[in-house]
Parts: sequence; structure tokens; C-alpha cells
Amino acid sequence: MYKSKPAYIVLALVIFGLLVISCGRKTSDNEILIGEYSSLTGTTATFGQSTHRGILMAVDEINKAGGVLGKKIKLLTEDDQSKPEEAAMAVTKLISRDGVKAIIGEVSSSRSLAAAPICQANRIPMVSNASTNPEVTRKGDYIFRVCYIDPFQGEVMAKFVFNSLKLRRVAILEDVKNDYSIGLAQYFEENFKKLGGEVVATQAYSEGDTDFKAQLTALKGSDPEAIIVPGYYTEAALIVKQARDLNMNMPFIGGDGWDSAKLTEIGGAAMNNTYFSTAYSADDPNPVVQNFVTKYHKLYSDSPDAFAVLGYDAARLLFDAINRAGSVEGDKIRDALKATRDFPGVSGMITIDADRNARKPIVIIEIGDGKMKYKETIQPD
Ligand code: PHE
Repeated sequence: MYKSKPAYIVLALVIFGLLVISCGRKTSDNEILIGEYSSLTGTTATFGQSTHRGILMAVDEINKAGGVLGKKIKLLTEDDQSKPEEAAMAVTKLISRDGVKAIIGEVSSSRSLAAAPICQANRIPMVSNASTNPEVTRKGDYIFRVCYIDPFQGEVMAKFVFNSLKLRRVAILEDVKNDYSIGLAQYFEENFKKLGGEVVATQAYSEGDTDFKAQLTALKGSDPEAIIVPGYYTEAALIVKQARDLNMNMPFIGGDGWDSAKLTEIGGAAMNNTYFSTAYSADDPNPVVQNFVTKYHKLYSDSPDAFAVLGYDAARLLFDAINRAGSVEGDKIRDALKATRDFPGVSGMITIDADRNARKPIVIIEIGDGKMKYKETIQPD
């Protein structure tokens, strides 16, 4: 038979519960809590792991230099397991349970799109490090990013194929489960057609697929001069490898989703004669880049990829905004983020425009002799 518990037991349980919660996430008045949601595990674990390293490096540096507004930055990180639903859960926890003042994340547009409405509803500024789909910042006026957006990336890729490679007939193989891929395919096609080029065929796949022979065979039938693969590197590398097996030796072209050391690890020599656009290259002779590469190497004995750089830039730009805001209130941080002009990021000068997007340069990488080589930097108009 059910008997209600005496009031003092209930009270004791509540107090105990509160103690457990507060011990889990200890904070003090000398700290500013910043949240990070990243894919530390799952299909795109390297995205999150590298991002996390970049953010940690920025936190460490700022804390050694005295912190922000005289307080230390305390980073709370949640793993979203590479899943949009988990990204939404992660930011909910960071905001409601931990009370973070601002949030950094994510790389994948699909995950940023799931988390942004929650940050917006709670008036907590969110700075995406690498989500390039234009819809992300349209979720509201608390949502920002430090990377360029795909209408610009699509235009640069189209001009590169048309003007630099001088190719006119291309095919597209897109990931129809990925908001980023769908958007980038569309912006590429619009711009390529505007220039006078032709998209002779389009085929689809879904993230996680491993066999692309049917789609590639169909594309081969249309005799394209190049194939555009606006997806993530795991599938892109397998696609190019299988294409070479089918004797398809034309150039393959991708966007920032290709940017990982895993691309050439998985694809090997098949990746020769491919190109992609991205936020940064470790070979860029710019001293700001070289300085960062050396510091990162000392810390992690590794060369930083684009995620590490963008995580580092997102965190530093956010700390700069909080300093200028002179406050940790959401609307004050938002206003300071909006006012960011010519912030010197490792990934280039960053100016936040009226749509809360970053205007900044783009880099083209060429793969030859099994290696990624810096080709050129293209500035925004
Ligand atoms: N731009 C991609 C997106 O919006 C994410 C990405 C960035 C992937 C950089 C790889 C490298 O989904």
C-alpha cells in the first residue's frame, strides 16, 4: 500500500539532490561559465575533438593572461555524439542546469540548426565555429558564426572550376541527409550556371553510406569533366577511391567538409587531382598562421586542422566581445558580438556583418602527390 513520505524526508531528499547538482558543477564568483557542445564521439568525432583542442588552447591562454573582466573562464563541454537531437539536449543542459553565459558550437550545420533555437529562446549568445549553412544564423539575433557561409563558398568553388580549371560540364554527388551538403550543392549550381557552365547530372547518397558505385556509374554515363562532392570527408574519400576504381580520373571538387587529415588517410593516392575550399591551410605562409601552428604543435604534437583553428577563433572572438560588453548579460554580449570588426583570427580577419555572419577569406587546397597543398586565398568582395 502506498504511504506518503513524511515532509522532513522529502525535504532532506531535495536538499541532498541540490547538493549533488551543485557539487557536480562547482562554480565560483571568480569564474565565467562558457558552454561548448561538440561531437566528441560518433560519426564525425574528429570534428569535435579538434574543435575542443582549439577552444581549450584559447581558454588556457586567456586565463594565463588574467581572464575576462577580471574573472577566469570556465569551459563546460557536452558531447553531442554527432547527432542533432543530442546537440539540442546538450545546449539545454548547459543553459538550464549549468547557467552558462554563452555557447560555442557546432561544426555541422544540421547540429547547429537543432541547437540554435534553444539558445535564442533563452537569450544565450551562441557562436558557431564552422557551420556554413546560411539558415543557422537566421534562427535569431543571438546566433553568430566565425566561418564564412555557403553562398560565398559555392560561388568561389564555381569560379574556381570555371575560371581556373576551365571546365564547363560537371556532375554533383550530394549527401541528402545533410543540410550543409544540400545547400552547398545548390549554391554551387546556381553560380556555375550563371557563369555559363552546365550541371549534366546529379546523384544522391546519405551520410554513413559506404558503397557509391551505382551513383558513380550513373554519373559516368553523362561524361562530366569534373565531379562536385559537397559532403564530409569520410564519404568523400570513399567516393573518390571508388570512382578511380571505375576509371573515372577527372578532378573531384569539395568544400570545407573535406578538410581533415583523414581525407588522404582514407583516400590515399586516389585523392590526387582533387581540390577543395576551406577556412585555412597550415602551409599558409602568413606569420599569424605559422605562429599558431608552432604553438599548437608544442601543445599537442600535431598539426592543427581547420576545426582546431575555428574553435580557437570562435572562443577568442567571444572572449573579446565579453570584454567589450563589460558584462556577462546575454543582450550585452550579443550587442558586442554584433559590433565585431576586423578581429584578427588565425583563419583571417573576421568582421561580423548585419546578418551575424563572418565576412572573411577562403582558401583553396589542391591534393597532389598524396599531399594537401595550399593553392590560393580568395578575399570576400
Ligand atoms: N561547414 C560544414 C557544415 O556546415 C562543417 C564543416 C566545417 C565540416 C569544416 C568540415 C570542415 O556542416
